[in-house]
Amino acid sequence: MNDMTPTREQREAKLEGMGCKRKRVEDIRFTQGKGTYVDDVKLPGMLHGDFVRSPHAHARIVSINAEKALKVSGVLAVITAETLKTVNLAWMPTLAGDVQMVLADGKVLFQNQEVAFVVATDRYAADDGINAVEVEYEALPALIDPFKAMDPDAPVLREDLAGKTEGAHGPRKHHNHVFEWTVGDKDLTDAAFRKAEVTIKEMISYHRTHPSPLETCQCLCSFDKIKGELTIYGTFQAPHVIRTVVALIAKIPEHKIHIIAPDIGGGFGNKVGAYPGYICAAVASIVTGKPVKWVEDRIENLTATSFARDYHMTTEIAATKEGKVTGLRVHVLADHGAFDACADPSKWPAGFFNIVTGSYDFPVAHLTVDGIYTNKAPGGVAYRCSFRVTEAAYCIERAMDILAQKLGMDPAELRLKNFIRPEQFPYHSALGWEYDSGDYHTAMKKMMEVVDYAGLRKEQASKREAFRRGETREIMGLGVSFFTEIVGAGPSKNCDILGIAMFDSCEIRLHPTGAGIARVGTKSQGQGHETTWAQIIATEIGIPADDIMVEEGNTDTAPYGLGTYGSRSTPVAGAAIAMAARKIKAKAQMIAAYKLEVHEDDLEWDIDGFRVKGLPEKFLGMKDICWIAYNSPPPGMEPGLEAVSYYDPPNMTYPFGAYICVMDIDVDTGVYKVRRFYALDDCGTRINPMIIEGQVHGGLTEAFAIAMGQEIHYDPTGNVTTGSFMDFFLPTAVEAPRWETDFTVTPSPHHPIGAKGVGESPNVGGVPAFSNAVNDAFSFLGSTHIQMPHDYWRNWKAAKELGAVA
Ligand code: CDP
Repeated sequence: MNDMTPTREQREAKLEGMGCKRKRVEDIRFTQGKGTYVDDVKLPGMLHGDFVRSPHAHARIVSINAEKALKVSGVLAVITAETLKTVNLAWMPTLAGDVQMVLADGKVLFQNQEVAFVVATDRYAADDGINAVEVEYEALPALIDPFKAMDPDAPVLREDLAGKTEGAHGPRKHHNHVFEWTVGDKDLTDAAFRKAEVTIKEMISYHRTHPSPLETCQCLCSFDKIKGELTIYGTFQAPHVIRTVVALIAKIPEHKIHIIAPDIGGGFGNKVGAYPGYICAAVASIVTGKPVKWVEDRIENLTATSFARDYHMTTEIAATKEGKVTGLRVHVLADHGAFDACADPSKWPAGFFNIVTGSYDFPVAHLTVDGIYTNKAPGGVAYRCSFRVTEAAYCIERAMDILAQKLGMDPAELRLKNFIRPEQFPYHSALGWEYDSGDYHTAMKKMMEVVDYAGLRKEQASKREAFRRGETREIMGLGVSFFTEIVGAGPSKNCDILGIAMFDSCEIRLHPTGAGIARVGTKSQGQGHETTWAQIIATEIGIPADDIMVEEGNTDTAPYGLGTYGSRSTPVAGAAIAMAARKIKAKAQMIAAYKLEVHEDDLEWDIDGFRVKGLPEKFLGMKDICWIAYNSPPPGMEPGLEAVSYYDPPNMTYPFGAYICVMDIDVDTGVYKVRRFYALDDCGTRINPMIIEGQVHGGLTEAFAIAMGQEIHYDPTGNVTTGSFMDFFLPTAVEAPRWETDFTVTPSPHHPIGAKGVGESPNVGGVPAFSNAVNDAFSFLGSTHIQMPHDYWRNWKAAKELGAVA
């Protein structure tokens, strides 16, 4: 070795592989305003479409008159349900097995529902056209309160379902009932409750909210009449699924549909589903022969596409006097709005809510979920969440605190007592999941040590004394949360979307000079896939991450994949990337063996190439192997160096975390201060610690928003009272607390690189930490459970109701 020969450390550093805090390569264009979002795409002759929307939450449509609108300068067409009926598209199937109006057909069922689509030469003309469309409504009573949905005299919302006693997920009990979903052993659970020494029961609501990405939903559809081809640029988290759905609905052959998802400004579940805007823009393009763009505005986004949560969870725990849990019983009333358009894997009407036993060793559990219709927007999307795991985590984490309060135990001690123990993994939960790996005690104890949990409790006790003595008007809360996630949908045995198994894919093509391209079936919306996917490849095959270009989002070039949501990208596509890289490595090994004139088994991998065992000077690097693969491969071997992998994971991955929030609340104003927030996450093998930290910061900020004020709220007549950022809490850097992050590493035993997902963990674990902090603060004034969101006014109201404020 001469002085110029790089050391092992230098060779490894050059790769910027897994474990490296590699800077995000996509930020070069984003920070310079050079991203290409859908609204940046402009095609020659492009038209613009916009919606006439209903001011009513529930009304019959008496008439729609487009005469005046068609006279507005620039307006070319007004599309209504009657127009769509001529092409059989007035209604569309939802991912949840229901049907949904594309444009109002006879009735409207929620405020801002799409009534007519105006197509014009520019956006302003379209808007003028909207205002000129005359719609006559006959108002009907609105059903807003989910608890009244199944009253015998509740208004009939879905007249199209009249007489249908069966839905996509079994029998319907009432005209506003969508489904009942039951999991677990009822008899054994009931028996556990009969024998229980201690029980708790509480109705825990997770209010309706919205993912509210910075970029709203949008598309640009362009139909080429000559070729019979439809190209759609869109904000799609799952481009291939959109292609298949369009092929099935529009009856256009799938190879003639080109879906392109360019840069996306946040998705958080909002951009998984299919919306009326996509259908109307496509139909308008087919009819006019011109490209048609549809771009949602903020109010439309918040009020019409994809709410999240709205779960009302009556939760009971049975336990011994010493605090050992013996049974869990949960009933959920799930408010689905006007149509069941939940974006869950098709067989799961309540997503993965049956992860509700959380991190605890419940011997028995029983869960029922009733889905119901109300006059609210459809959706039920997984807002930074793996299909209702967020609701489940909130449910069990609040319930454990309530149990601790009843037992007079410390909430952290109660959790430690009931955690699934390391030796129990793989762990079979009472509600049917197999947890792959975990070490909960270590994570919890680390959290308690780092924040000096015992010291904080002492401080809280003395502050409570000071409050009692009238020396302070502040109350202090410690919000402990320990969550287990279930991410990586998913194994084909568990998950499909409309019959398509939820695998994912990667194609890697290395070029002769040792650079290459990886195309993946996922689609980043800000998660940094262009950076991290290249890091996996760098470690696996020794090509520097900088020499690998990552491409996603074009269905013509990427292999079929099920997209990015529910933190599935790393568990599923991340595995496909590693497996494709390993196929390349296997071929590279054959080439190296031939060139180094040894048997393949005599070679060992060494960072960025193969070395002959025992003869360290005989080495062939991957860059050289790439050249050889194209120019002088071994006789009989095909030239080239590329591979494709489609990965059907054997199981989900189960990341977990221990969070704590320290909060002070002024009872006279309800103003809270988050004094400290510590988040320990375990997502198995960490690909890029810096990106993980960024994901955790973002998710915690959303959790903070949701717990402390963010809400889609309806008044009793069905008006959305939080339909803009004036009323819908979206924290900026000013409001957001400071985050402390930490980690443990418990690899997934079945994932090729041991990685688990992380993107949504902070949203899942963060919300209960905030809510538990508020509830813990108020508990010494005698309260058991205060519903979210915990904004200033509600905090003040709680203090007043508890007698702390005159
Ligand atoms: O599906 P989605 O991309 O939203 O979530 P994810 O799989 O949790 O990945 C989010 C980002 O974190 C990606 O850039 C991952 O590569 C990165 N990540 C990581 O660096 N290490 C992990 N163990 C998990 C995710």
